[in-house]
Amino acid sequence: MEKFESLFEAIKEKAKAVDEAIFELIPEKDPKKLYDAARHYPLAGGKRVRPFVVLSASEAVGGDPNKAVYGAVAVELLHNYSLVHDDIMDMDEKRRGKPTVHVLWGINLAILAGDLLFSKVFESIAKIPIDAKKVVRILDVMAKTSNELCEGQAMDIDFETRNDVTVEEYMKMISGKTGALFDASATIGAIIGTDNEEYIQALSTYGRNVGIAFQIWDDVLDLIADEEKLGKPVGSDIRKGKRTLIVAHFLENASEEDRQEFFKVFGKYAGDVKGDAVIKEDIREEVQKAIELLKKYGSIEYASKIAKDLIKDAKDALKVLPESEARKNLELLADFIVEREY
Ligand code: IPE
Ligand code: IPE
Ligand code: MG
Ligand code: MG
Ligand code: MG
Repeated sequence: MEKFESLFEAIKEKAKAVDEAIFELIPEKDPKKLYDAARHYPLAGGKRVRPFVVLSASEAVGGDPNKAVYGAVAVELLHNYSLVHDDIMDMDEKRRGKPTVHVLWGINLAILAGDLLFSKVFESIAKIPIDAKKVVRILDVMAKTSNELCEGQAMDIDFETRNDVTVEEYMKMISGKTGALFDASATIGAIIGTDNEEYIQALSTYGRNVGIAFQIWDDVLDLIADEEKLGKPVGSDIRKGKRTLIVAHFLENASEEDRQEFFKVFGKYAGDVKGDAVIKEDIREEVQKAIELLKKYGSIEYASKIAKDLIKDAKDALKVLPESEARKNLELLADFIVEREY
């Protein structure tokens, strides 16, 4: 992915200050298990795209990116909190190439580690060196983002056991669970960097579109990625019966016979929350068959096309901003989101 080399360099460079601040906020301390569990995902890595959006957005509107570091930390922590709880809900065993928090420390501690990461979000926002009025505005953005994220996740769970989810409902669900936080990342960066409402609005639009495309592409990767590269299980959405855009397209277009074949494995674990949250039965081959069926009807290409259209809208929204290195990076990041393999 030579096209993205300069982007990867920029992300790595910007992540340094962010990571330093994260581990300062969540040090090694007692109760050891709690803090170890909370530090586990931040230590394991991740792409760090959301903090990059915060810092680049701030820079793209003419702000000093150093001022935005704790804003970037706040969104990355909210993201990590959501991953800890999401992995419990989805019963996944792997994240960022490592065993998930609940697998290593148990469900109770994983819930608490998520809670701790969540409260650190607000500690981080309080540290942003800007005037109090802006801090209150950012708190409002973050609280509303968290509301939307919970609503989206609740819809996602609800959809597991429904066969009549419309494309419109799916779009609302992913806009909540993933679009909101990308929107917040770009919006918060912009608020820190400027008072220009037109710029703030443009970045909000960029973030929302990028975030929705990000989730559609995540759903694609769940089917076609290499598990080593992805760092999390492939086919998880099939086992859980997640109503993705791809599945919606398949159900609308497939023959009755193929639909029946698909449902033999799709949703085998829907609505199921096991005590240890680990799926012991290996259903890899069955999952592969279901994926072949999705491919047969072009359902993956259908979803990819929609994601790519959203990326175009996201980049268009940036056109009101002056040209800059930071704006270029945001455009490049938008492309990366629907071309990535992990
Ligand atoms: C995973 O997000 C959760 C989704 C919203 C699909 P990322 O793919 O950004 O995860 P990391 O941070 O790189 O691990
Ligand atoms: C979850 O979407 C997004 C949030 C964590 C809110 P997924 O459940 O598809 O994310 P992954 O695939 O586990 O990262
Ligand atoms: Mg998940
Ligand atoms: Mg999930
Ligand atoms: Mg996923």
